Amino acid sequence: MADRIAEEKIDQVRQAVDIVEIIGDYVQLKKQGRNYFGLCPFHGENSPSFSVSPDKQIYHCFGCGAGGNVFSFLMDIEGISFQEAAIKLAAKVNIDLDLNQASVHKERKASKEIQAMQDAHELLRKFYHHLLVNTKEGQHALEYLLGRGFTHESIDKFQIGYSLNSWDFVVKFLSKRDYPPEWMEKAGLIIKREKDGTYFDRFRDRIMFPIFDRHGNTIAFSGRSLGAGEPKYLNSPETAIFHKSKTLYNFHQARASIKKLHQAVLFEGFADVIAADRAGVENGIATMGTALTDDHIALLRQNAESITVCYDSDNAGIEAAFRAGNLLNEAGFQLKVAVMPDGLDPDEYIKLYGVEKFRNEVIGASHTWMGFKFLYFRRGKNLHNEGDRLSYIEEIIKEISKLSKAVERDHYLRQLASEFSLSLDALKQQQKQIYFAEKKTAAGNSPVNRKPVIVQKQVSELKPAYYKAERCLIAHMLKDRDVAYKVQELLQGSAFNFDEHQAIITYLLGFYEDHLEPDTSAFLSYIQDENLRRTVADIEMMSINDEVGNQELTDYIKQVLNYKIRLKIKEKEAEQKEAERQNDIQKAIRLASEILELRRSL
Ligand code: UTP
Ligand code: MN
Repeated sequence: MADRIAEEKIDQVRQAVDIVEIIGDYVQLKKQGRNYFGLCPFHGENSPSFSVSPDKQIYHCFGCGAGGNVFSFLMDIEGISFQEAAIKLAAKVNIDLDLNQASVHKERKASKEIQAMQDAHELLRKFYHHLLVNTKEGQHALEYLLGRGFTHESIDKFQIGYSLNSWDFVVKFLSKRDYPPEWMEKAGLIIKREKDGTYFDRFRDRIMFPIFDRHGNTIAFSGRSLGAGEPKYLNSPETAIFHKSKTLYNFHQARASIKKLHQAVLFEGFADVIAADRAGVENGIATMGTALTDDHIALLRQNAESITVCYDSDNAGIEAAFRAGNLLNEAGFQLKVAVMPDGLDPDEYIKLYGVEKFRNEVIGASHTWMGFKFLYFRRGKNLHNEGDRLSYIEEIIKEISKLSKAVERDHYLRQLASEFSLSLDALKQQQKQIYFAEKKTAAGNSPVNRKPVIVQKQVSELKPAYYKAERCLIAHMLKDRDVAYKVQELLQGSAFNFDEHQAIITYLLGFYEDHLEPDTSAFLSYIQDENLRRTVADIEMMSINDEVGNQELTDYIKQVLNYKIRLKIKEKEAEQKEAERQNDIQKAIRLASEILELRRSL
């Protein structure tokens, strides 16, 4: 563990950074009134319930309850410690944290292996690139690429390289620079021979595509064979720095464009991403030859609203586009599917027809998700055959039934009616039947559907009156130190009824002992407890009046105290009953008058 960062330094950092800017790197935010809203990066959702307050420098999700300040945001989203988050933020705003050198050294040592893996990748990326563009050894590889339509410009932009046709070039290259071979094996760059424990190069005589993480560090390679050698693409294995299921090819370069256009184009292969980039489509990304994962989708969700899927238009590609499309549609993206003719892939299409045609007639003419399904279900069917035709129509109506907007359903039913000369009314009738039949089975199968927003709202509406009163009081106490002390005084030693609320005001009064001004973000760091932090963020996001009058405060306090009195009345009533049962008349009378007294005080 490293030593603590000085409190003043933390305050300095907090004051220098802007939470909207930091969160904006991960979540697409839109301003609405005083706050910013976006899709919560901590749970899957289709409508934005995640809000960021620039005034208070905090964030809160009404859906899943996540909340906190800029430090907790980075800790949660990057999975890092408070210390690491502070270091990251400090670096952003050029504040020197004066960290004890010994402890920095210790931390570094722990991640030395990781660092060495990354450095070696960095070094090799440069060297492979140099071999490809500047040397005789790489000339045939360069000619191959140029022959395929790659340009010098894109070879530079994507840092494409060439690995020598040698068994031990990289082994020697790295050991000469003191990279321990055990670590380099773990990094996937060299492989150990079983029989004698010596090492050999993983990538030999291949076109090298470096893989970058989202910050632009080289973390892996994919090597394409020059001829028909198998496998066509040889990838780095999973390592401490490379996880296929979390990595999207070209994401670090495409991100700016994705954010600007609110849109990404998803390709199947690297060659397609690079060719599309040449055609001016700079928001292209691809998976590492694997299916789309939840992690990929979460990463995209933070940066784009709309995705265009542009897969190969062979059978495998169309099936893969259908699968990816279903996942993306489920995740709430506005979805389009770009389709090319004749089993081509984007790279081949661009080579055949040029960049202009690709932009206009493929990307520009993308189908809606439903439009794509019209094509998808048609494959392999002979629509002149009545059986095929009817099963096609039924499949399409099923899909139309999944659409939530009536105008859309109407639009596609009309399309279907006109294409097959059917009566629109009959189609509508059938669509309704299918809809209700599907709904029934769905209801029988999955009792839980995730709608966190609504559930939470209902719960809080069921809360007793004191609950809301306590929250309003805390909200005002967070805004004004004097109000905090006033409330404490009015409570006359009584506590809030809801334990979490009481914990918060205890912390808050402690906080105000050495902070003369309210500062929610600083207070959130002061609390540390995650649940309380979330509750504070939740309360902070309530809209309350700026000023609070004495009458309002007294009313809230009254609700808090009345609850206690009601509890006491219930207790005494039970006692009274018990006394009557035992024929202890005197006790019963005493209790009755006490109850009366309590009732009066309400
Ligand atoms: P494709 O076979 O469609 O390759 O694989 P491509 O993109 O058209 O490549 P070229 O044009 O032949 O050079 C698509 C993706 O699948 C992964 C790679 O990520 C590739 O970009 N793949 C493919 C592998 O990982 N290994 C393989 O052997 C083949
Ligand atoms: Mn190809």
